[in-house]
Amino acid sequence: MLLTEVEPSVNPLMPATYRVVARRVETDDVVTLSLEPTSGPSLLFRPGQFNMLTAFGVGEVAISISSAPGAPGPMEQTVRDVGAVTHALCTAKVGSTVGVRGPFGTDWGVDELDDSEVVIVAGGIGLAPLRGAISYLVDKPGRTGQVYVLVGSREPDQITFPDDLERWERDGAVVKVTVDNGDAHWHGAIGVVTTLLPTISFDPARTVALVCGPEIMMRFTVRGLADLGVPLGSIRVSLERNMQCGVGWCGHCQLGPLLICRDGPVFAYSEQLERLISERER
Ligand SMILES: Cc1cc2nc3c(=O)[nH]c(=O)nc-3n(C[C@H](O)[C@H](O)[C@H](O)COP(=O)(O)OP(=O)(O)OC[C@H]3O[C@@H](n4cnc5c(N)ncnc54)[C@H](O)[C@@H]3O)c2cc1C
Ligand code: FES
Repeated sequence: MLLTEVEPSVNPLMPATYRVVARRVETDDVVTLSLEPTSGPSLLFRPGQFNMLTAFGVGEVAISISSAPGAPGPMEQTVRDVGAVTHALCTAKVGSTVGVRGPFGTDWGVDELDDSEVVIVAGGIGLAPLRGAISYLVDKPGRTGQVYVLVGSREPDQITFPDDLERWERDGAVVKVTVDNGDAHWHGAIGVVTTLLPTISFDPARTVALVCGPEIMMRFTVRGLADLGVPLGSIRVSLERNMQCGVGWCGHCQLGPLLICRDGPVFAYSEQLERLISERER
């Protein structure tokens, strides 16, 4: 499948209405909504881009698109219930409507990676923004580079998309999952996600890494990948900041000279980006 350049809706500040056609509970605080436009064609998007989703009467938040472009069925967005708006979205009933503005921002650039090995590292809900990219890579005919999917989760019952993890493995990806804290039923790896890096064998010179999760996890993962020889410029991360307009007008998502909604959310890693993230953390 060819990924086309996509443009947000004609007026990027005007939400289109989408109907919730299915709602899947992923974990105790994560829900995936399947969304179809109430009129007109479905959105064209690239893996890694996000939409601004409106829970009418409550507010609007940035949420990544978690389905693959061109996949059969409705667009999916996976939401973690952390506050007023995400709670309203997570509890939206099938048949109700939400607002959608987008798609916005940069993407994972998966269509450039046919010959590369791709190491994907996800922490927690960070698998959602990567899910479409992984499906695209695994399903694309003629790709030669191996795909590695490394997932870290706090606890076994917090692991999202278990069916996809199995499917990707069946279809040729190397998939490894670790949890911070196991339980009586968990027989897999225990430890933070970076402990999985030395367990896979890849050629760092022809590897591109896609990393998404809490910022601290991304920084440690970047360090681990760099220690194994992956050049910083071959590592892409997705950043989150509070967003309002989503189109580079309001300045809410500023990080130094960058606007995360316009210049990101997906960035090639660099020492400058590392400095910006670390300065903000101090
Ligand atoms: C580009 C982008 C993509 C995102 N993709 C997803 C996604 O796929 N799924 C998902 O569940 N969430 C995603 N988020 C985060 C989501 O936008 C926030 O969780 C949401 O804005 C919280 O709003 P609220 O009103 O529910 O909670 P609030 O009441 O606003 O906040 C509740 C808690 O969440 C924290 N918070 C608020 N906004 C953010 C933010 N932008 N990033 C991190 N923490 C925040 C607050 O500090 C507070 O601790 C994304 C954010 C960005 C910028
Ligand atoms: S959200 Fe307004 S400039 Fe980024």
